Amino acid sequence: HPEVGGDLVRVVVSEEEIRSRLGELAARIDEDYAGKELLLVGVLKGAAFVMSDLMRRLTLDVSMDWMAVSSYGASTQSSGVVRILKDLDADITDRHVLIVEDIIDSGLTLSWLVDNLYSRGPASIEIATLLRKPEAVKVEVDVKYLGFDIPNEFVVGYGLDYAERYRQLPYVAVLAPHVYGG
Ligand code: PRP
Ligand code: MN
Ligand code: MG
Repeated sequence: HPEVGGDLVRVVVSEEEIRSRLGELAARIDEDYAGKELLLVGVLKGAAFVMSDLMRRLTLDVSMDWMAVSSYGASTQSSGVVRILKDLDADITDRHVLIVEDIIDSGLTLSWLVDNLYSRGPASIEIATLLRKPEAVKVEVDVKYLGFDIPNEFVVGYGLDYAERYRQLPYVAVLAPHVYGG
């Protein structure tokens, strides 16, 4: 299986750092939404791991839903135009919505998603993301719950993939250039 020294260069965020930080974020979310019903909206597929681990730390009245989206445009450069592949099951009108993501890279996916969900008339809408790459951001998105800012390197693990591989790693690591021909 993939390991540092093979496919991976180094660990950027360890399993323990993720566990500890998600606990802190969950405590803040519990406090901020006390007495309210919260809907977590995950973005398939990368957010599956954050969703699973974050949700289990919450004591709130909380439920989850999922969206699947796809970016149009050239493969290397996202156009910011997004297509819905799977929409929410839930009607979010007047509901408190917290979008859960694994990473904000350019910010194009989330800025589009926030606009789209906002137009449906939720009571509130906020973002929780485990990772953000400040040097890669093209569109600023307002993140309320942030795990870690990381350098602008090709990372995989804890939901993040390269060609659908490496999602199952319990940590976030830099992918070795030889794997993707870099
Ligand atoms: C990745 C990641 C975020 C998005 C961030 O998803 O999981 O959802 O890209 O990129 P952006 O900030 O530049 O928009 P991807 O499209 O690879 O799908 P996946 O979650 O199924 O891997
Ligand atoms: Mn994703
Ligand atoms: Mg991906």
